[in-house]
Amino acid sequence: MSLPAKSTSPAVILTGDRPTGPLHLGHYVGSLRNRVTYQHDYKQYIMLADSQALTDNMDDTGKVHRNVVEVALDYLAVGIDPTKSTILIQSQIPELAELTFYYLNLVTVARLERNPTVKAEIVLRGFERDIPAGFLTYPASQAADITAFKAALVPVGEDQIPMIEQTNEIVRRFNRIANQDILVECKALVPEIGRLPGIDGKAKMSKSLGNTINLGASAAEITAAVKKVYTDPLHLRVEDPGHLEGNVAFIYLDAFDPDQAALAEMKAHYVRGGLGDSIVKKRLELVLQEMLAPIRARREELAKDRGYIMQVLKDGTAAAREVAARTADEVKAALGLSYF
Ligand code: TRP
Repeated sequence: MSLPAKSTSPAVILTGDRPTGPLHLGHYVGSLRNRVTYQHDYKQYIMLADSQALTDNMDDTGKVHRNVVEVALDYLAVGIDPTKSTILIQSQIPELAELTFYYLNLVTVARLERNPTVKAEIVLRGFERDIPAGFLTYPASQAADITAFKAALVPVGEDQIPMIEQTNEIVRRFNRIANQDILVECKALVPEIGRLPGIDGKAKMSKSLGNTINLGASAAEITAAVKKVYTDPLHLRVEDPGHLEGNVAFIYLDAFDPDQAALAEMKAHYVRGGLGDSIVKKRLELVLQEMLAPIRARREELAKDRGYIMQVLKDGTAAAREVAARTADEVKAALGLSYF
């Protein structure tokens, strides 16, 4: 992934997560560890997309409420620094809803129905024809999130690229109507190692598939998960040659083992034959325990001070709201919606 050259004022980054569960290693690889580095060089907004989470969770609003704090804890525990990044809660910035309302007139129902991300998610959720209107139209709300902060860069997984394309369509249509470049087009930043498989070998680590290792996992949970990690089903005896493709133990070691030279030797030995899965898993367990122990400790420490977490969220949201409100004013003025 190559980042654009820096200009005098740092480019704005907007990223976010739907707070529907605690974050896991898949999030860590796909976004969290990048955010920790971005925050030094960019103006980074990180949004807890609680309103968006409600578009398919109206039957369990408590889950979304609880997970706002859980995800905030994950952010801080991995090293997102609230003095460098602005963490905000989507629902507490009414201007985001307001912008969504206007942007809905810049997309057609047919275009929303064709959005590949929305299409795939409708299948995944089994909505069939009973699609909540708010769910179908969430690309407009995502466009509001991105444009409110005039974000130039949006780090997302590959599956979210259609959201960026649709956002830019809205931006172009709006600027044409406004006859000036009020909104800013954005670029998706897709990480190279975007997707971590689940411990069961399925292509994606995801809470709904029950194949995750959470960032706050206890030592015992990590041990249990490593035992279940999918390896090579054809590697029955130690002396058999093993395969690396689709071998989750090695995929995780590729992603997390700090000693990549030793890992290369281990892989060669495995492929040659003579190296048992138990040795590989022992290494994986050590690597994961060492990586997650400080994150867990920090998470537990922070969780004791809920007042601090709420203050971080309140301050971040207030700062973000000022920016979003300025954009909303410009948008409304350009639409002739300013009177006094
Ligand atoms: N749709 C994103 C997800 O499901 C969350 C999100 C909401 C988001 N608004 C955003 C991501 C704006 C990037 C930019 O993960």
